[in-house]
Amino acid sequence: MKIAVLGAHGQIAMLLHPILKSNGHDVIGLIRNPDHSDEVERAGARPAICDLEAQDDISDAVGKVDAVIFAAGAGPGSGAVRKWSVDRDGAIKLIDAAKKNGISRYVMISAMKVEEPRGNEVFQVYQKAKSEADKALRESGLDWTIIRPGRLADNLPTGRITLGSDLESGEIPRADVAAVVAEVLEIPESAGHQWDLISGDTLIEAAIRQAL
Ligand SMILES: NC(=O)c1ccc[n+]([C@@H]2O[C@H](COP(=O)([O-])OP(=O)(O)OC[C@H]3O[C@@H](n4cnc5c(N)ncnc54)[C@H](OP(=O)(O)O)[C@@H]3O)[C@@H](O)[C@H]2O)c1
Repeated sequence: MKIAVLGAHGQIAMLLHPILKSNGHDVIGLIRNPDHSDEVERAGARPAICDLEAQDDISDAVGKVDAVIFAAGAGPGSGAVRKWSVDRDGAIKLIDAAKKNGISRYVMISAMKVEEPRGNEVFQVYQKAKSEADKALRESGLDWTIIRPGRLADNLPTGRITLGSDLESGEIPRADVAAVVAEVLEIPESAGHQWDLISGDTLIEAAIRQAL
């Protein structure tokens, strides 16, 4: 498949490109900063420029691909304005681009418990933004899968997870999130599903098949 990854220089995305490549896919890594091109290319994706906040229509940048992955995010240092412009509106722009370009498959990296606002004001805006983006995707008519990880960690992957519709809070290495995102693309029946994701005991493919 030809796959476009939005937020391609992000930490999860950089772990995802080599997996997608080794699964035989052609990966387009959409980045906003051209200085990140070499790193993204070394990770296995073909870099292309797309700043989600600079234009309303990103369909030209996304191009004619078979699947899109939303791995972007305004990030921990950002304020409320960018939670809306990246985490919600950026994800919705990708829905619009997918529809315009005839791309049916969309995998979203969301977050656990975004319908249960907690934390400070900016974090609550982030949760609302993610929640609204996920809702827009569920209602889009596309073949969507929404992966909602718990707290992201940078330790080594275990390859073992818990996947479910309403899990207790937990943690998961970014590398395992990347592996789950890659795996759902290999399992078309995962379309139409939204799952919480934390570390666990079950191998990734088996956990997805059990959840189906
Ligand atoms: N932190 C947690 O515990 C947690 C838990 C669950 C889910 N999540 C979600 O998981 C997502 C991915 O995590 P991560 O650690 O891989 O994130 P990350 O490293 O912060 O990566 C986000 C990427 O989005 C890109 N981006 C920001 N604004 C953009 C724009 N206007 N146009 C295009 N790209 C833009 C950034 O580009 P630059 O490289 O140019 O800055 C960055 O590469 C997070 O954003 C969050 O929504 C986080």
